[in-house]
Amino acid sequence: MTEVRRLVPHVAEGVADADTVTWARAMAAAFLRPRMDPADLARAAADYAGQRLRGVYETGDPAPVATLRSWDSLMTVPGGEVAVDAITSIGVRSTHRRRGLLRAVLVDDLAEAARAGTPMAALTSTQGSLYERFGFGLAFSTRSLRLDTRAADFRDPGPTGRLRTLDVATLPSAAAPVHDRARRRHPGSMGRSTRSWTTLMTGENLFSGMRPDRERHAVLWSDATGRPGGYVVYRVAQDWLGDSAEIAVLDLQATTPESYRELWRHLASLDLVGAVSWSDASVDEPLPWLLTDLRPVTAGTSREMLWLRVLDVPAALTARRYPVTDRVVLGVQDPAGHAAGTWLLDTSDPTAPEVATTTRDADVALDAATLGSLYLGGIDPRVLARCGRLEELTPGAAGRLARLFAPPSVPWNGTRF
Ligand SMILES: CC(C)(COP(=O)(O)OP(=O)(O)OC[C@H]1O[C@@H](n2cnc3c(N)ncnc32)[C@H](O)[C@@H]1OP(=O)(O)O)[C@@H](O)C(=O)NCCC(=O)NCCS
Repeated sequence: MTEVRRLVPHVAEGVADADTVTWARAMAAAFLRPRMDPADLARAAADYAGQRLRGVYETGDPAPVATLRSWDSLMTVPGGEVAVDAITSIGVRSTHRRRGLLRAVLVDDLAEAARAGTPMAALTSTQGSLYERFGFGLAFSTRSLRLDTRAADFRDPGPTGRLRTLDVATLPSAAAPVHDRARRRHPGSMGRSTRSWTTLMTGENLFSGMRPDRERHAVLWSDATGRPGGYVVYRVAQDWLGDSAEIAVLDLQATTPESYRELWRHLASLDLVGAVSWSDASVDEPLPWLLTDLRPVTAGTSREMLWLRVLDVPAALTARRYPVTDRVVLGVQDPAGHAAGTWLLDTSDPTAPEVATTTRDADVALDAATLGSLYLGGIDPRVLARCGRLEELTPGAAGRLARLFAPPSVPWNGTRF
């Protein structure tokens, strides 16, 4: 006999309760993470304060055979933000795979989020083919890049403003407000928890087995008036013997073109360093355009970043703004029911889009996952129409959707979760 149970983590003085620790151990094992002693595990699991833990439990076994963790987060959308159920830590005990346990725990979480009125769910995935069957569509990808710092020549003379190094004590209070402003510039960018800043700087979390990463550095840039404009956290990815260390950017957030430029100037001017790489840069990263020659920046592979699942069509679609006026009817199929229906999206008033069920004929037919892909404007509906993922029932409807959903800037989110 199995049942899905929901736990509320209790954390006191930075240490989690016994049930939460048991849950965390099971999750770590499913992801092949290092074994930890109970004290480290209890500290790692303290990150889950305020979040929802789900487990599938077998009768007589205190440890779950499947895990899922979720929390309420805010995601930037064109013209505002929307509440999302952020989902992570989906893991199944290696002896219990392919028996429907992932399905059981995820369906339970999505049902609760829908009941609570949360318009959407979001996740990042280790595998590309897992979540579409649950109504998640890929909303956008990131791309890796590499800068050859020896060849980088900045267009402006600079530098401007002031740089200050941060450490584990100063990063949280300095970076959090900057990130909160920076994330509003990128549709798809998610809010972060208070604890995440400490983890970002120390590298100590459940996935690293609480092993500290002592190679991390952080720098804050402020403008001439002293107002912080951006920060970067990076680590030494390859040793510096031979004068050419490679630096890996872990997080870079900028609120202005000047802060963006000066953070990159800092990275490019580090002594002992020959290259800077960033695995989760935006697909349209402006870095090359800062340089007199674009070639020192090479773009690498692109990877899926955020998957979105619409749970409440009117709430999700009215949370964002649209750059053109139109009236489009979407016929959405969703076997789970959350997004199913024929919906009229009316953007006649650009400040207050309206969505209602309608008996009119649909202009396009699509499934819930495809709606998740369209939502932020990161995937072109004409491409989805060309492969049959979206069916044009009115000629030209995919082009109208492309104009309607076009985002003010390319969607990006800087961290996987
Ligand atoms: C991936 C994982 C969570 C799947 O769990 P599971 O309990 O075996 O999955 P389920 O039995 O509920 O399968 C649900 C559906 O997903 C499919 N599926 C499961 N694992 C899959 C995989 N690795 N690739 C493709 N499809 C997969 C199943 O075939 C099933 O499809 P169906 O319902 O259409 O028949 C589990 O193997 C695991 O813990 N992996 C290691 C950790 C991990 O990668 N987690 C995912 C983090 S994003």
